[in-house]
Order: sequence, then structure tokens, then C-alpha cells
Amino acid sequence: MIRIIYHLNVVLCILQISHAFAQQSIVALDKAAKATPYDAELVATLGADSQSHGDAIRGAVLFSNARLACLSCHKIGSHGGSVGPDLTAIAKDRSLSHLVESVLWPRRDVKPEYLTWSILTTSGRVVTGYKVGETDRGIMVRDPASGKDIVIDKEDVDDEVAGSTLMPDGLTAALSREQSIDLIRFLSELGRDGQPLSADVEQVIARSQMHGPATFEFTAVPITPQRWPNSQHRVNRDRVYDFYTKQAEHFRLQQHCCRRQ
Ligand code: HEC
Repeated sequence: MIRIIYHLNVVLCILQISHAFAQQSIVALDKAAKATPYDAELVATLGADSQSHGDAIRGAVLFSNARLACLSCHKIGSHGGSVGPDLTAIAKDRSLSHLVESVLWPRRDVKPEYLTWSILTTSGRVVTGYKVGETDRGIMVRDPASGKDIVIDKEDVDDEVAGSTLMPDGLTAALSREQSIDLIRFLSELGRDGQPLSADVEQVIARSQMHGPATFEFTAVPITPQRWPNSQHRVNRDRVYDFYTKQAEHFRLQQHCCRRQ
């Protein structure tokens, strides 16, 4: 009986963690059951199509979309979470087909360091996380959410179960084929041929992380000072001239990143 309750607990724990990270992907997760079965031909065609007509910037916009939750688990540059591996330079040493497979079928090839373990202690506690170290005496488990490590004495371990990856299946089930192709194109350019992160991609990711209205830097002085002969006068010292024109000009120059959204 205890064992049954424990296994139920384990499942609940894993579900809770996944839920916390992918709360916004519930629609996508609903479709997980209908996720496409593994298909090697699809891997090859999606990979090839991503290179012939995928768009990396559109892919970056998708990646940073809160509904897909990719960025809540993965870092790109200085933004994103650390539940999953940092993807800033993922294409440097990963093949195109690996990228397609990791996105469509995350459970197929999980790296051992990203397996979630659930450990039942003799006192009835369940600790869930990544195993980051093991000695004769203890096991070190890292909580994926907080990054905190817990050491459990081996003598206190009653049972341990390896789960799967925290990356939810079927995240891309809600995407159209074109969107999947864009997402894969985006991933396939990250660090390819040792390239640094492109400024456009960095901007898309940074913007998605901004909360509240976008801000911009501006000066108080008029754009054409001749039109405002008294602008240097003391009574005008706190006045900001041409704010809306400066704002419009600033965002007009940025538009190349947002037009495609
Ligand atoms: C709940 C957290 C979570 C979410 C959400 C998530 N991932 Fe992951 N992802 C992981 C973990 C954990 C791994 C490592 C598991 C493994 O080795 O397969 C991983 C692995 C990957 C890999 C393979 C990395 C490698 O080193 O080979 C890619 C690519 C990837 N994810 C892309 C995405 C994309 C694109 C999205 C959004 C559609 C996404 N992930 C959403 C947690 C997540």
C-alpha cells in the first residue's frame, strides 16, 4: 500500500513540476495525447524545409511566446530559465535531425543529467530533481525550479525512481507546419559555425521578457531648437520637447523586429 501511495506521489510531483513550468501550455498539452508518432521521414522533411524556407526571426518570436513556454525552461543568451539546457549555441554540436527530434519527441533521447529522479526517504519524504552527484554515502539532488541542491544520506534512501524529461511532449502539436519549420530554423542557427547570437534574435528575446510598456531613452532638448528660442530658459528646464515625435522615431527604427510578429 505504502508503495502504491508513493508511486502516486511521484507521478503527482513530476506533474506538479511540469505544470509549474508549462502552465501556459495547457492547450498544447491537451493535444499531447494526439502528438504525432515518431516518424523518421518527417524528421528529414521538416529539417530540409526549415533550411529551404524557415524564418529564424519568426521562430525566435515563437520560442519566446509564453504559450509555448520554451523560454521559461531554456536560456538564450542572458534570458530564460535553467530547467533545461542552455540553447544559446545548440546548433554548434547538434545535428538538424537531433533538433527536430528534441522538439517533436522530447522523450526519445533524454540526456542522463536531465532525467528527473524521485527519491523516497525512510521518513516518507519524496525528493524530486536532477541527480547531480552520488558518492558511497549520499546522493545530491538538484531542484530544477530553484536550482538548490539537497544531499540525501544513502542510508535514508528507501526507494528511487527515474522519471523522464521535464520537457513536455506535444508542445508543438498546436503549431502549424510553417511555424514548426520556423522554430527549427531558429534553433538550427543558434551558434552554427561558431556564430554569436544575432542582434535581431537577441532583441526579440529581450523584448518578450519585458514587462509593462516598452521604454526608450530620450533627451529633453527640442529636435529643432531654432523653433523654440526659449527652450534654454529657466522656466523650461524640466520641459521635454517633441516627446511623441522622438518616441515614434525610436520605435519606427525598431520595427524590423516586430513587423513579423
Ligand atoms: C518544462 C521545461 C521545458 C519546456 C517548457 C521546454 N523544454 Fe526543451 N528541454 C527541457 C529539458 C529538461 C531538456 C533536456 C532533456 C533531454 O536531454 O532531452 C530539454 C531539451 C531540449 C532540446 C535538446 C537540447 C540538447 O541539448 O540536445 C531542445 C532543442 C529543446 N529542449 C527545445 C525546446 C523548445 C523549442 C521548447 C518550446 C517549444 C522547449 N524546449 C520547451 C525542458 C523544457
